Amino acid sequence: MEKQVKKIAVLTSGGDSPGMNAAIRSTVRTCAYHNVECVGIYRGYEGMIDGDFIGLDPRSVNNIINKGGTFLKSARSKEFRTKDGRKKAYEQLVKENIDALVLIGGDGTFTGGMIFNQEYNFPIIGIPGTIDNDIVGTNFTLGYDTALNTAVDAIDKIRDTASSHKRLFFVEVMGRDVGHIALNAGVGSGAEEILVPEENLGLDRLLESLEKSKYTGKSSSIVVVAEGDKTGKNVFELRDYVEDNLEGYDVRVSVLGHMQRGGAPSCFDRVLASRMGVKAVESLLEGKNNFMVGTINNKIELYPIDKAVKGQSKIDEELLRVSDIMSL
Ligand code: F6P
Repeated sequence: MEKQVKKIAVLTSGGDSPGMNAAIRSTVRTCAYHNVECVGIYRGYEGMIDGDFIGLDPRSVNNIINKGGTFLKSARSKEFRTKDGRKKAYEQLVKENIDALVLIGGDGTFTGGMIFNQEYNFPIIGIPGTIDNDIVGTNFTLGYDTALNTAVDAIDKIRDTASSHKRLFFVEVMGRDVGHIALNAGVGSGAEEILVPEENLGLDRLLESLEKSKYTGKSSSIVVVAEGDKTGKNVFELRDYVEDNLEGYDVRVSVLGHMQRGGAPSCFDRVLASRMGVKAVESLLEGKNNFMVGTINNKIELYPIDKAVKGQSKIDEELLRVSDIMSL
């Protein structure tokens, strides 16, 4: 028989994302609702190794639903990647009588959790929190919607100055391995071209498209570029390339960077976080283990965490076509 879960710990790990605080709040309050103790672990797996814990009750999570970042702090722990580190972490959990874990984070967080689960048979449930939306088994990760809105808001502002000066802007958005932010923020902000890590649209095509923009009467252009785009050139190199190969283009670069990870979560992310926290805790209380909470067609579901980690998230190819049509 499974051991009854009486005390649950929650941590945030990896890159922070808006909505993590709302997910902690939901975890804590769902625990209280079911008369289960809840403990916060500071600094992700680092804090688990150090026993950096704090008891949490419903009042400990007042006024955080609207806050970006994570009040439990986050880290990418090197030590937890070692057997020794994980052993220390396990001993801390046992010392604190913790029975199960809610892990809020992305790919790396889930991989660490899975290995820990295999070694110690310690119950875990993951909540996907990353702005990149690069996790299979959920249509949306926490923070993605907020990051998209932040990026679109920034690009709108860039458009004002671009059109005032008849300039071309390369705007770099986050996404080392995936182009969800670039593609959706690009379509949402009316970008002329969008460069993503998944597909190499080619530099020739970029030049052709910019030429076409000029002779069809566009006075300014925005090209949205994901950090890890496939052309192999970063935004500064792209600027130089266009200036060297096209007449009459005044080009500027704007790298949006970590501002995309901050800020108050959107209503969508707050609601998603609240729903996911409830599902995570109630699943652990039902004896479920080794799952990630996801939202599929607006239903909150469980998805095997190993599949979430192994899966390759895909961009919406149709959106690339939509972008092409819109940029006429
Ligand atoms: O949170 C995911 C992500 O934003 C990626 O898109 C980006 O490449 C990376 O984090 C940057 O992380 P950091 O600079 O904080 O290590």
